[in-house]
Amino acid sequence: MWLAAIACCLMAILILSVSWTDVRGAPWVPTSMRMVRRMLTLAEVGPDDVVYDLGCGDGRMIITAARRYGARAVGIEIDPLRYLWCQMLITILRLRKRIRIIYGDFFGADLREADVVTCYLLQSTNDRLEEKLRTELRSGARVVSNTFTFDGLDAVRSEKGAWLYRCSGNEAAS
Ligand SMILES: C[S@@+](CC[C@H](N)C(=O)[O-])C[C@H]1O[C@@H](n2cnc3c(N)ncnc32)[C@H](O)[C@@H]1O
Repeated sequence: MWLAAIACCLMAILILSVSWTDVRGAPWVPTSMRMVRRMLTLAEVGPDDVVYDLGCGDGRMIITAARRYGARAVGIEIDPLRYLWCQMLITILRLRKRIRIIYGDFFGADLREADVVTCYLLQSTNDRLEEKLRTELRSGARVVSNTFTFDGLDAVRSEKGAWLYRCSGNEAAS
């Protein structure tokens, strides 16, 4: 009886954790590893890049950017469980010098340092985010989005659902 009650509670926490962020930007649906590599390759991520993943989920994008592509990476995550998971993972993998995780809302985060921004959100969230990317990112910064588009940014290429954009400059600074 007690075991069933505990199992139900854990299940409820898990379901809530996966879905509640829907209202803040997107629910947790991880990008497939094949798509992670496709997105980072499309953006030509390299050791000189700082990659920001907006809503970093279980950390797969930032960990791959650091381990496989040699980049520095920053993940921003609003869900406390996934944030703690990422912190634990980068500690175990000894990636703390290369990866930073920020707990909070990416709409309030400072993205000016980013050379590459990755995201897998929703179309309505991309639409709300576009202006922030346009005004905050430096000229030449790349944005790569899984599935959903940024219709007001300069599209460079797309490949099997990965959309690459290049920013033309910080309009706020000019
Ligand atoms: C579809 S998942 C993508 C996860 C990861 N980027 C990937 O590609 O596997 C979206 C993630 O964004 C997070 N998220 C949603 N809205 C957010 C917000 N406003 N600020 C920070 N994280 C957010 C969710 O908690 C979830 O982990």
